[in-house]
Formats: sequence, structure tokens, C-alpha cells
Amino acid sequence: MFVRLPRKRLEILLSQICGFPEPCASSEQYEISDTVAATMLFTAATYGDIEEQLVYDLGCGPGRLAIGAALLGARHVVGVDIDSKVLNVAEQNAVQLGVKDRIEFVAQDIKAITAQADTVLMNAPFGVQRVHADQPFLQKALEIGSVIYSLHKASEGGRKFITRFVSELGGRISFVQEMPMALPATMSFHEKKRHTIKVDFYRIEKQEENV
Ligand SMILES: C[S@@+](CC[C@H](N)C(=O)[O-])C[C@H]1O[C@@H](n2cnc3c(N)ncnc32)[C@H](O)[C@@H]1O
Repeated sequence: MFVRLPRKRLEILLSQICGFPEPCASSEQYEISDTVAATMLFTAATYGDIEEQLVYDLGCGPGRLAIGAALLGARHVVGVDIDSKVLNVAEQNAVQLGVKDRIEFVAQDIKAITAQADTVLMNAPFGVQRVHADQPFLQKALEIGSVIYSLHKASEGGRKFITRFVSELGGRISFVQEMPMALPATMSFHEKKRHTIKVDFYRIEKQEENV
């Protein structure tokens, strides 16, 4: 029987992950924090959406969510990112953490994915640089996944928009929870060593008739 890692242990392992080699501001290459990643992964695991499941991580970057899903017992994980350089780092991270045998990283625009997944995890671009950059991610997630765990920039307008958009795509939000997320300074224009933003964490289910 698979014994789930304690949350603290998961966070420690995730903290060993190497990040973006050359983070690009216009593509919003920010990494999810270890704490928020562990919250998303543990919540999904508690709902039974990780263990023995086929999990996709859309816009996986260095692979924190993909690798975390493998560590929590996913049957197979696919991490997709348009940036092939960061996928080399993700591969190394997976080797380092001993889960490479259950993860594949694919260099592809998420729009081109045609697979079907049990669970989709994602921390996509928030749309700060390009308005609604998260829309194609939500669209693809609802097309390929039965259940989606997704992070978005917290705002009242954003919640209204996502609620309507998800419903139009045949999804239903089971919960949304605001939480703080620490972002280290990774871009040349960042003045503080670290700052904290507010994010909304969503669980979205595809409605039965659309499955
Ligand atoms: C905010 S970063 C998050 C990275 C990672 N999920 C994490 O949380 O650490 C968003 C990622 O989406 C990728 N991305 C942006 N547009 C994409 C697209 N159309 N197809 C695939 N990946 C894309 C970027 O290269 C970047 O790695």
C-alpha cells in the first residue's frame, strides 16, 4: 500500500527544486512557492485526485507540481511547458528527487494537447503582462481533465470572471480559497528580496454531462 509523505517532508523535498534558469517577465515565469504547492498537492491528494491518477501539470516550469504529484503517488504525470530550457531543469529535478520514471516533460504549447487526464494541476501565467493569459489554460484544463486545481491572482473581478468563464466551459467551482504566496526576487526590476501576493486557489470539476 502507498504511504503518503507527511506534508512537511513534501515541502522540504519541493524546496530542493532548482528554478527557472532565465526567468522571462513577459511570459510571467514565476514559481509557485513550496508552501502553496504543498497545499494544492495535499488538498488534491485528500480528494483522491492524485494517487494512482494520470495527472497533467500545464505550464509546469521547473516542475514543482508535477514532481510533487509523483511524490504523492500519481500513476503517471505529464508536465507541459512551451519553454524547453526550463524543461531540462525540470527533468534534472525529477531525477534528483527519484521520480523520473513516472514523469514525462513535453515541450509544447498547451493549446496543442489532445490527451485526457484524471487531474490537471496548474499555476499558469496570471495575465498581469497579457490580459487573460490564464484563459487558454482554463479552457485546455477543462477540455482534458475531470478535475482541475488552479492558482490565479486574487481579486473580486477575477473571481467573477473565472466563475462565469468556468461555467461557460461546462465546469463547476467546488471551492475557491484565498491564500498568501511569497515570491522571491527573480527579475531584474524586483527591488525587494521577497514580496507576498494574494492568490486564489480553485478546485474545479467538469460537470457530469460534459465528462
Ligand atoms: C507562472 S509560470 C509557473 C511555472 C510552474 N507551474 C510553477 O508554478 O512553478 C507559468 C509557466 O507557463 C509557461 N507557459 C506560458 N504560456 C504557455 C503555453 N502557451 N504553453 C505552455 N506553457 C506555457 C511558462 O513558460 C511558465 O513556465
